[in-house]
Amino acid sequence: MYSSANGLNPTAFKSLKRFENEIIAAVAELLHGSEEVCGVVTSGGTESCLLAVKTYRDLARATRGVRRPEMIVCETAHVAWFKASEYFGVRIRLVKRDADFRLDAAQVESLVNRNTVMILGSAPEYPNGLIDPIEALGEIAQRRRVPLHVDACVGGFILPFMAMNGVALPAWDYRVPGVTSISADIHKYGFAAKGASTITYRNLDLLKHQMFVYQDWPGGVFASPALLGTRPGGAYAAAWAALQYFGVSGYRDLARRTLLAFDRMKQGIAAMPELRVFGDPKGPLLGYGSRDPVVDIYAVGDRMDARGWQINRLQFPEGLHAMVTAKHLESVDAYLADLRAAVAEVKADPSLARQGTAATYGLMANVPLRGMVKAKVLDIFAGMYRAGGGDFDLAAHESAASGGDVPATLAERIATWYVERKRRRR
Ligand SMILES: Cc1ncc(COP(=O)(O)O)c(C=O)c1O
Repeated sequence: MYSSANGLNPTAFKSLKRFENEIIAAVAELLHGSEEVCGVVTSGGTESCLLAVKTYRDLARATRGVRRPEMIVCETAHVAWFKASEYFGVRIRLVKRDADFRLDAAQVESLVNRNTVMILGSAPEYPNGLIDPIEALGEIAQRRRVPLHVDACVGGFILPFMAMNGVALPAWDYRVPGVTSISADIHKYGFAAKGASTITYRNLDLLKHQMFVYQDWPGGVFASPALLGTRPGGAYAAAWAALQYFGVSGYRDLARRTLLAFDRMKQGIAAMPELRVFGDPKGPLLGYGSRDPVVDIYAVGDRMDARGWQINRLQFPEGLHAMVTAKHLESVDAYLADLRAAVAEVKADPSLARQGTAATYGLMANVPLRGMVKAKVLDIFAGMYRAGGGDFDLAAHESAASGGDVPATLAERIATWYVERKRRRR
């Protein structure tokens, strides 16, 4: 019904503004915010992350005259934060993980300086599903008077319900005094149609720096609360409907079943002597790698692909990824059985690591010239977008995915290029 309604103009599309008010009020309550918590519905996690960076850059400029803004971000932060850094000219001071894959708060403190416009924590981070130590970060943020944003794009619509179900979790939301804003996606664990996230702030003084106003445009005085101009009413209405449909009890039930599937998967992987789960994730995401030098984890990924699973690859360290939902309760046992079989196959034939996408991914992660990798990816990607649809060939892609010899994925194309380059240089 609302797919042609425009959230840009709240005075014309009053129902949409009401949907937005109700969504933000529900999120503020879920995240234990006070009545002052305010925010906007955005088109997705990336928009929410981009907005936080723009807001805090402009806040620091307006209140402290910061001209060379920096933000403190852990290497496990979602790539949207690196995008925001590039888009808005905010330099990243990168925090390395410790040996247990956790963000080290002491390292964060050592990086704060007069140019710091914000600190980022994630709840949880995407690669390994770990919740950053938000309380420790909050304490630093308050003491050093720097805003702290929590990226709960993944966690926002599941961690609160896990907690309601009795799962012990560290504090990560507005109950932590130093937290100034939170991004939480409705189109992930809120199960809304794609195109719906939220960014909320502890108070309106912060949110004001997100807004854009231009008073001298011949087209009229213009004001916009978020990144987009026209804002898709259909997505916002669908998100509102999802909240009504599930309600607290529906989301608690989804969280309960998700956690059953997640725990079963985590324990099943940890019980395989050749594998290890990265860190100690509480759900709903995890990453895992090999602890056996004979078992190449990317080769395990290939054997899983061959069995019909879709598994994302991690790098630094090399690993596989799982984002678990309630639906996976039906398939987690089959997944573990296939994983055991895949590990056994690779163990029996370690040369599998030099075939298929395992060879490619392994090579990609080990190309020392990262700037060249970036330039090459850009080249290939741009090729896919040139006029006429570029050179993205679905048939070739499918042939390569099923073991054919046409390089199709970005990783495969880069590996082909790199091998060729090395050969020419020899
Ligand atoms: C922690 C985190 N933040 C932000 C994002 C970006 O969200 P989106 O893909 O909706 O732009 C993601 C996506 O997976 C994420 O995991």
